[in-house]
Amino acid sequence: MSHQAQPTPRPAEAVEHVTPQLDFDGTTPYEDYVHADVLTHLQHLLSDDPGEMVFLVTTQVMELWFTCLVHEWETASRALRADDVPTAIAALKRSVRELEALNASWRPLAQLTPAQFNSYRGALGEGSGFQSAMYRRVEFLLGEKSASMLVPHRGAPRAHRELEKALHEPSLYDEVLRLLARRGYAIPDEVLGRDVAQRHEPSPAVEAAWADIYAGDGPEDLVRLGEVLTDVAELVWRWRNDHLVATRRAMGAKPGTGGSAGVAWLEKRAQTYVFPELWTARSYV
Ligand code: HEM
Repeated sequence: MSHQAQPTPRPAEAVEHVTPQLDFDGTTPYEDYVHADVLTHLQHLLSDDPGEMVFLVTTQVMELWFTCLVHEWETASRALRADDVPTAIAALKRSVRELEALNASWRPLAQLTPAQFNSYRGALGEGSGFQSAMYRRVEFLLGEKSASMLVPHRGAPRAHRELEKALHEPSLYDEVLRLLARRGYAIPDEVLGRDVAQRHEPSPAVEAAWADIYAGDGPEDLVRLGEVLTDVAELVWRWRNDHLVATRRAMGAKPGTGGSAGVAWLEKRAQTYVFPELWTARSYV
């Protein structure tokens, strides 16, 4: 763990005898910072199946990555609002590495057989990732807004409050498009003044703006912004598709624990493109 005061290096010959500190008055400074004792005792298993642990831990790990992504994209949104493109790009680049780690965490669940999944599926009852409030904030920041997604969280005041706030705030992509307008691109009023609680609908004018930026005469910082947003979009699409394939392997065409049609419903969700004009503009460059 790094501390503000930088320690003075010891002479090389003395170094190997220096052992870590063992005595602390209360809990360790590590515990005070990481809360590892809380974090490693949140695994309340509901079945006797030994495979349930990795299912629960993977889900919890993904929740933590969702939390990190929300933090980065809120940082990027604030920076864009202040016309600070370098800070926004730095946060988005961090989020790209985090998305890679998030996607890598599918590995332990990617090859579940239906029999393995069945061993604890019953214990989940109607529980489903569909009810993840943090995933919903991820989607809201990407522009995938929907008031009905607040309904499952009525019984959880904090999650509901945070989601309601996120619903009515401009998404990361709204902030990007507002920045493009301030930088002289012809983003129409109906895009800039849209009801931000609704899903972002693809706009031909936005597509034209990205095509201009990518055509080579656009400012270099906006090209870099477009590319890091495309990285984000691609990795979110990969997360959705890895989830879809893992689900198809684990349960075929059975209905989901959350009550949806399962794979058929996820397939439809995985077809939507994040930041759609960043993809379609490529045909016109
Ligand atoms: C291999 C194990 C998994 C299976 C079989 C599975 C299955 C499903 C299904 C069928 C749905 C559709 C809703 C429903 O009816 O339940 C769904 C949604 C969802 N799952 Fe999973 N899931 C798995 C693992 C995970 C994990 C580890 C996470 C991490 C948090 C997760 C997060 C989500 C999210 C966020 C949604 C909502 C997606 C959306 O709204 O577009 N799932 N899952």
